[in-house]
Amino acid sequence: MGTMEGLEVTECTRCPALVDCRSRIVNGTGPDDADILFVGEGPGAREDEQGEPFVGRSGSVLDGGLRDHGLARADVRITNCVRCRPPENRDPTKEELDNCREYLEHEIAQVDPDVVVTLGKVPSEHLLDRDVAVTREAGTIANAELGGEVRDVLVCVHPAATLYDRSQESTFRNTLDKAATLAGSGGGQSNLGEF
Ligand code: URA
Repeated sequence: MGTMEGLEVTECTRCPALVDCRSRIVNGTGPDDADILFVGEGPGAREDEQGEPFVGRSGSVLDGGLRDHGLARADVRITNCVRCRPPENRDPTKEELDNCREYLEHEIAQVDPDVVVTLGKVPSEHLLDRDVAVTREAGTIANAELGGEVRDVLVCVHPAATLYDRSQESTFRNTLDKAATLAGSGGGQSNLGEF
């Protein structure tokens, strides 16, 4: 019902509605040992077209936020809770999220990031397994067992939220600031101790 090669799902038919809607499976991108792993909800139209997460308008916001912190898209890993575009951009159902969870767990275990950043309500609630008031909780860290380990999950507003509500911009940027700090302190990217 599903095949993974490395971090890529190459074939999957677990969710009939998504199989009907998708043009392709959209896998995560970025280094397989990234210190920061961003997790979104699922591919939209642009992502489905191009086969890469966050390439539409929210992707530009994310890229801009990363750039402000001296990071490029190529420095971080970006993935989604579900890898196939839901019809009419509806939220993925609980069943669809659960069907795709095994792939996400595998990706988290392999990448072993210092911090998992959840972009918006769906990934925050899915990974923390509780209701999350994203606007209130953005920038806070919670612990969750993911990829076989208890990990730091940093709640973040969805990048698109900053397009509809300018007041979310500073929340978004402050959260990225925290992610960059957490990643630096994890030892992976920082070589400062050698000097
Ligand atoms: N929004 C998401 O949650 N994921 C994407 O890949 C693009 C937009």
